[in-house]
Amino acid sequence: MSVNRPAAVIILAAGEGTRMKSKLPKVLHELNGRSMLGHVLHASQELEPRDTVVVVGHARDRVRAHLAETAPQAVTAVQEEQNGTGHAVRMAVEDLAAKGVELSGTVVLTCGDTPLLRGSTLASLVAAHEEEGNAVTVLSARVPDPHGYGRIVRDADGAFTAIVEHADATPEQHLVDEINSGMYAFDGALLSQVVKRLSTDNAKGEEYITDAVALLRGDGHRVDAWSAEDWNEVQGVNNRLQLSEARRVLNDRVLAEHMLAGVTVIDPASTWIDVQVRIGQDTVVEPGTRLRGATVIGEDALIGPGAALTDTVVGDGAKVVQTTADGAEIGPEATVGPYTYLRPGTRLAERTKAGAFVEVKNSNVGTGSKIPHLTYVGDADIGVGSNIGCSSVFVNYDGVNKSRSTIGDHVRIGSDNTIVAPVTVGDGAYSGAGTVVRDDVPPGALAISEGHRQRNVEGWTRRKRPGTPPAEAAEQAERHRADTANKQ
Ligand code: UD1
Ligand code: CA
Repeated sequence: MSVNRPAAVIILAAGEGTRMKSKLPKVLHELNGRSMLGHVLHASQELEPRDTVVVVGHARDRVRAHLAETAPQAVTAVQEEQNGTGHAVRMAVEDLAAKGVELSGTVVLTCGDTPLLRGSTLASLVAAHEEEGNAVTVLSARVPDPHGYGRIVRDADGAFTAIVEHADATPEQHLVDEINSGMYAFDGALLSQVVKRLSTDNAKGEEYITDAVALLRGDGHRVDAWSAEDWNEVQGVNNRLQLSEARRVLNDRVLAEHMLAGVTVIDPASTWIDVQVRIGQDTVVEPGTRLRGATVIGEDALIGPGAALTDTVVGDGAKVVQTTADGAEIGPEATVGPYTYLRPGTRLAERTKAGAFVEVKNSNVGTGSKIPHLTYVGDADIGVGSNIGCSSVFVNYDGVNKSRSTIGDHVRIGSDNTIVAPVTVGDGAYSGAGTVVRDDVPPGALAISEGHRQRNVEGWTRRKRPGTPPAEAAEQAERHRADTANKQ
């Protein structure tokens, strides 16, 4: 099928979406890693339109900011008051005209609240529209429950004559189960003219774009309704129940693609994967797993149960069980979890291990190194083949500054160590259990802390950390102590 580049795609997104009961504009609600509007934009961009116009009105600043971030090619047209879908289209057409854009060729019109729409469906609609030389081709669908939708009206010969809105329909028309999806291919030149002629003589007192059908037909132009194969695609989302239903359908689609490409998904019902995630062949995704954002997983990996990975890269053959990771890199054949938290900037090299109750942040862990249990590693560079003993803490924060620690190759940090940054432990060094590593350890040395007697340096915070909340708290406590002493 060859489709010419449409002149423009116009996406209506000015409505408030009151039934969402939300502070967030309806079209910005998210499913599988993309806003509803983002999904519609993504589908429509497959047509490579010359212009993409989003009609904004309600909460337009938030919608605009979202577009600037996610779809900078789209321009916006403002509809100050929501006087109907026809009025919204008129605002877009007038905006384009003011910019000197003449709509010659096909214009595709869609809504911002139909996230299940496929680009291929729009392309088929445009192809049918152009082949038949129609003035307008409506994307229609037969649906189980047509309540609320505009109905496709046909004459005795079955020819499409008009769309009638639910509120304006007769009892017989209410029985029609062929509905208007709210998506159309228009002849751009005719659209520019017909939007000036829409009346407000209807139940809602609004300019309906749907009236364009009868007007264009009355002028002797060809109009047609083209039926979508999968009615799910045209389902509009008006409330959060419908949003969850759409998310289920979209998620099933995403999972089906992965499964047909060689990924095992044990429990599709409890597995949620964003549209951009990539997964290699023969990887097994266990139940209760959520893969988000730009996450990329290699081949032969085991993910889950209970993994929540965001913008995380996982190498071939890695095992990631009961783990929350955000902005992390997990190397090939690494073992992570259970109950592990990997924060941004974590890079675990090949065959590393981060075990139970281990948190790692902004750190590099070299090939084959292990952090088996109950440990916090922050701002550290660990070499190859090293082992960090159970219950150790990398003290990277002195209350004001963060510093890095460097652990060499084949180091054996004992259990319950405190690594006080900035500090360097040389290759092949050992440390005894309970060591507080404050000073650099030379290669091959054994570090041990002796004499654990506590010594208090009075007034330290006031002198060394003036003006900080701890200093203020200390001063307040000292004043309180002095007051109490005076009263006695
Ligand atoms: C519209 C169609 C109806 C169709 C249905 C499909 C009309 C008159 N009716 O009805 O035939 O079956 O969609 O879902 O077109 N919008 C604006 N500005 C406005 C009004 C609406 O931008 O002034 C936007 C909304 O944000 C939304 C879209 O247009 O994205 C559709 O508006 P909505 O009020 O939901 O139309 P429906 O009554 O559902
Ligand atoms: Ca709607």
